[in-house]
Amino acid sequence: MWIGKVKVNVIASLKSILLLFLPLSFLLLLLFFLHPRPTIDKQRPAGILIRPGYENYDQYISKQLNKTLNSRLRRIWTTRDWDRKIRVFTSFFNNLVSNEFLSNSSRSLCIGARVGQEVVALRGIGVSDAVGMDLVPYPPLVVKGDFHNQPFLDESFDFEFSNVFDHALYPEKFVGEVERTLKVGGVCVLHVALKRKGDKYSANDLYSVDALIKLFRVSTVARVTQIDGFGLDTEVVLRKTSAAKEITT
Ligand SMILES: *[C@@H]1O[C@H](CO)[C@@H](O)[C@H](O)[C@H]1NC(C)=O
Ligand SMILES: *[C@@H]1O[C@H](CO)[C@@H](O)[C@H](O)[C@H]1NC(C)=O
Repeated sequence: MWIGKVKVNVIASLKSILLLFLPLSFLLLLLFFLHPRPTIDKQRPAGILIRPGYENYDQYISKQLNKTLNSRLRRIWTTRDWDRKIRVFTSFFNNLVSNEFLSNSSRSLCIGARVGQEVVALRGIGVSDAVGMDLVPYPPLVVKGDFHNQPFLDESFDFEFSNVFDHALYPEKFVGEVERTLKVGGVCVLHVALKRKGDKYSANDLYSVDALIKLFRVSTVARVTQIDGFGLDTEVVLRKTSAAKEITT
């Protein structure tokens, strides 16, 4: 019958359309999984994404060194940027002193300090036992060290400051090392960007303060403030409340 024939034809063409789309959807699925995406670690709180594209740790380090060793940047940091940065860091640190997060007797570490303007600012306001740490040393202000594996003993510092959290390839190690080397009662101050994203050397992107706070195991949040700090918009102050647990990795 005519009607029946049309029906059969429609079913047949539906079948061939389906057969055509089946491999196509497999292909799309495959492309989806092959495409490099930010890795989402089950251990890592939602809200921190690691940028794709690092084959291994050595490659990450050499990319970071590339920025730190860039002679044009180093010249800017030690000339044009020098006074301006010290002035801004000084006002941040004075505020922390007023709020009793920092004092002249605080043994202090600045993580990822590059040429050490924050160290100069600390010493300038009277925090005399202050030192910086970076992949490339800048004596006498900055010693050599990787924030994923700080070259300091447990419970060495009263105060740790950093504005390079976005450079951490392993944010949980960055925080674990801060909690290891801080004394109980010590204070960690991080400047991070929530609204703006970091530069091409950033290794992670942070989407919420909570995600950052969740990485701390033995500290409590003391204060979260909006700031204007060289492209970073949020200051998070945490205080270590008990001895660091053994971190199992
Ligand atoms: C940084 O990387 C660029 C290319 O991406 C390269 O030409 C340059 O030599 C590198 N600089 C350093 C200090 O490694
Ligand atoms: C901290 O040191 C500075 C500079 O030496 C000094 O002016 C200030 O009075 C000291 N603050 C306290 C509370 O001792």
